[in-house]
Amino acid sequence: MQTWEELKKNCLDCTRCGLCETRHHVVFGVGREDADVMLVGEGPGEQEDLSGIPFVGPAGKLLDDMLSIIDLSREQNCYIANIVKCRPPRNRDPMETEQDACISYLNRQIQLVQPKILICLGRIAAKRLIDPDYRITRQHGQWVQKDGIWMSAIYHPSALLRDVGKRPETFDDLLAIRAKIQEIHAKV
Ligand code: URA
Repeated sequence: MQTWEELKKNCLDCTRCGLCETRHHVVFGVGREDADVMLVGEGPGEQEDLSGIPFVGPAGKLLDDMLSIIDLSREQNCYIANIVKCRPPRNRDPMETEQDACISYLNRQIQLVQPKILICLGRIAAKRLIDPDYRITRQHGQWVQKDGIWMSAIYHPSALLRDVGKRPETFDDLLAIRAKIQEIHAKV
């Protein structure tokens, strides 16, 4: 089983799919490696590709604001990663083949973090981690338990930048995440 150091080194050297040819940086993950809450996006955008850090562009700024509403932050109590670690050109959706090539890195990150709660950011992550038939418009905010982890999905922050009409529902989803964290902490 790979340690954090081995996993990160292998990931930074990765050439498993064509995205390695156009990337500037592999975007491995950021945050507390012992976090109870893990957030998973789809893949790096331009700013993330240039910096090597997830969610640092406009969507990332909104994500940080959303997390702060429920007392979460990448510095203190969350770990943030993506389904694919290299930027798909022009921010297209990552292809199934690219996701397949990359997913073992995320799976090992999840094993190492051992989150109690995992939140998918948007449709792509929800389809990959919760259910291939996931419908984000209908199912966001619902909870399922998989392998002992409570999982849910919310709209991707980029979708919330494009459509502010989705924000009230997401606010409710954020409050439900806070309630789930409190429920879990009350049990231990
Ligand atoms: N969108 C994502 O899904 N992930 C990032 O890291 C940045 C934007």
